[in-house]
Amino acid sequence: MMIRAVPIGIGHYLPTRVVANAEFEKTLDTTDEWIRDRSGIERRHFAADGETTSQMAIAAARAALDMAGLTANDIDAIIVATSTPDLTFPSCATMVQAGLGMERGFAFDVQAVCAGFVFALANANALIIAGQARRVMVIGAETFSRIMDWTDRGTCVLFGDGAGALLLEAQDGTGQSDDRGILSTDLNSDGRYRDLLYVDGGVSSSQTTGVLRMEGREVFRHAVEKLAETAHRALDRAGVGADAVDWIVPHQANLRIITRTAQKMGVGMDRVVVTVQDHGNTSAASIPLALSVGVGRGQIKRGDLLVCEAIGGGLAWGAVVIRW
Ligand code: UT7
Repeated sequence: MMIRAVPIGIGHYLPTRVVANAEFEKTLDTTDEWIRDRSGIERRHFAADGETTSQMAIAAARAALDMAGLTANDIDAIIVATSTPDLTFPSCATMVQAGLGMERGFAFDVQAVCAGFVFALANANALIIAGQARRVMVIGAETFSRIMDWTDRGTCVLFGDGAGALLLEAQDGTGQSDDRGILSTDLNSDGRYRDLLYVDGGVSSSQTTGVLRMEGREVFRHAVEKLAETAHRALDRAGVGADAVDWIVPHQANLRIITRTAQKMGVGMDRVVVTVQDHGNTSAASIPLALSVGVGRGQIKRGDLLVCEAIGGGLAWGAVVIRW
């Protein structure tokens, strides 16, 4: 017997404003063709003026609660993965807690940039296994449009806004790999790579918000090298091979990274959930958005074996194996 953190609800929110690649041709030395060829991105959503990360997170969490047929006071904890909170503090998660009308439990943020949702899932899993929470809402929510340098064509065409939420519940499992729920996690970081991807402002340094800076080619190189490795480690730990994977649900940064990682894992692209064309890179929101869209499309079904993998600023990277 073993406690498993089992998915019981999934939901997402995307801001209404959709911006196609061609929009950037008006202000930057770029083309729709370059953006599509190099990243696979065709369009992205941008938050409206005044629309915040916590508002998007609340909408996604409501959708996940609806799917589960539960209300906010049925959950014990909220974890929000974000690098773009509404305020320096309090946490985005406590704002979501209040917004949902949740009067009990606890809420906190996790900051691991694009790998944030994987780190948040690992934390939620640990809380559930330790018996400290029975139901945990795990949210990835970002407004990266607020930290773009709109003159830098190497970054501002790549990112988008949105939120996704996954509700996990403690259920009894056998400890075998046919259990539903989170089967394994693998987390990594290496702070020596901080200059490859960072925001050039912050509370204790500049007292400004700053904008995103990225050595795209270098991050690309690390991503291709590290994502298949972390996914394989997580699969080994779960006691399953890559041949058993029904869906890779990758961080959606670049279609070429997604494709190469699947190739290295020996998994065909017909078993990869791809949303990058519609969302761009939404950092910590990208995996829960892809999970929600994948379920909505009828790709991901109960009992399917999923591996989620992500890498981002830090560098921080990791993978989670879930049986849906
Ligand atoms: O989510 C966190 C993790 N982040 C990532 O995973 C992103 C990883 N990196 C990437 O996805 C890719 O490196 C990019 C999409 C950012 C760039 O693709 P690339 O194939 O690595 O291109 P590059 O950076 O090597 O640039 C190739 C050329 C350069 O020109 P030169 O130096 O060859 O003359 C760039 O200046 O493309 C130029 N370029 C552009 N041209 C048109 C860069 N951005 C643009 C643009 N439009 N928007």
